[in-house]
Amino acid sequence: MASVPTVPATLIPGDGIGPEIVDSVTTVLDALGAPFDWDRQAAGMAGIDAAGDPLPQATLDSIARTGLALKGPLTTPSGGGYRSVNVRLREAFKLYANVRPARTIVPGGRYEDIDLVLMRENLEGYYVAHEHFIGLAGDPHAVAISQGVTTREGCRRIIRYAFEYAVKHGRKKVTLVHKANILKAITGLFLEEGREIAKDYAGKVAVDERIVDACAMQLVMNPWQFDVIVTTNLFGDILSDQIAGLVGGLGMAPGANIGEDAAIFEAVHGSAPDIAGKGIANPLALMLAAGLMLDHIGRQDLSSRLKTAIDQTLNVDQIRTGDLGGKASTRELTEALVKRIG
Ligand code: NAI
Ligand code: MG
Repeated sequence: MASVPTVPATLIPGDGIGPEIVDSVTTVLDALGAPFDWDRQAAGMAGIDAAGDPLPQATLDSIARTGLALKGPLTTPSGGGYRSVNVRLREAFKLYANVRPARTIVPGGRYEDIDLVLMRENLEGYYVAHEHFIGLAGDPHAVAISQGVTTREGCRRIIRYAFEYAVKHGRKKVTLVHKANILKAITGLFLEEGREIAKDYAGKVAVDERIVDACAMQLVMNPWQFDVIVTTNLFGDILSDQIAGLVGGLGMAPGANIGEDAAIFEAVHGSAPDIAGKGIANPLALMLAAGLMLDHIGRQDLSSRLKTAIDQTLNVDQIRTGDLGGKASTRELTEALVKRIG
């Protein structure tokens, strides 16, 4: 056998529908000839069952070794005082960029031909949550105080990532989204760095600016004016869900978490316990995340074949799972995709 270079990567099946959709995705990736050499690890409830921790040390060690992971949805254990697995992963691997592309795949929704990407800063802003209460007149929660943090270095890292992404993916414009008219320090610094970095891309990628509230309105009125949007943590959290809404909700939304030490790819939806084990889950959000992972390792050839197969299966073969109005099972959809990849 000819030796094909493989790319070690961690695979986390996760909880609920996780194992079913991960199975579908690995089947389709195998058909594509994707080079991943999977190291299967547990997290979520599966992590608690296996190692008494929703994020076992073995899983962290695996991601530290591979620097690359595909993660199924995790059920957040209620009680037990576990910290959020996603927050722990973000911190452990300094996952500073959350990348959320939104592209119309199934026509006939509220908007046609949406194709934009949101880059959210993932480690700073108000989500560092330096919060406390001050008591007054017997009310311990009379006053709530919150401090956010923005660093010049943190702004540079995410904004540069957005511009580099634009160059690599043939995108024409990066829009800096801020609230620098009011929050002059915490988001003013972001805008200042954005304008500075944009100069390095003059003639290659256009730059544009929006105040966040105006941006939210314009995303509804005329979303086609946007291409790549880059913004701070809180604004990015809100706008990324808004953007998913432009293309029919979270069901088909992939996400990437990019860091200095690792990159982790996932579906935006959760573990869907209501349909787990029924064989009807839609694997496409995780499959699109796997497409982002192929882009990340420089295999645009494979990710574009995957995209084409997904488009044709849904829109030419008309094979869709129940959440998209079809009748296909996860397995039938998987088989149709494999046939399209041929
Ligand atoms: P959910 O996204 O799991 O489900 C919401 C609704 O969408 C359900 O009706 C579900 O059946 C449907 N749905 C979701 N994904 C689907 C798919 N691939 N195919 C067909 N239908 C799908 O959100 P929910 O119910 O709020 O959360 C369930 C669990 O997932 C919770 O424990 C939550 O904490 C966790 N969660 C984990 C995330 C992650 O690991 N990234 C993200 C969001 C939630
Ligand atoms: Mg959110």
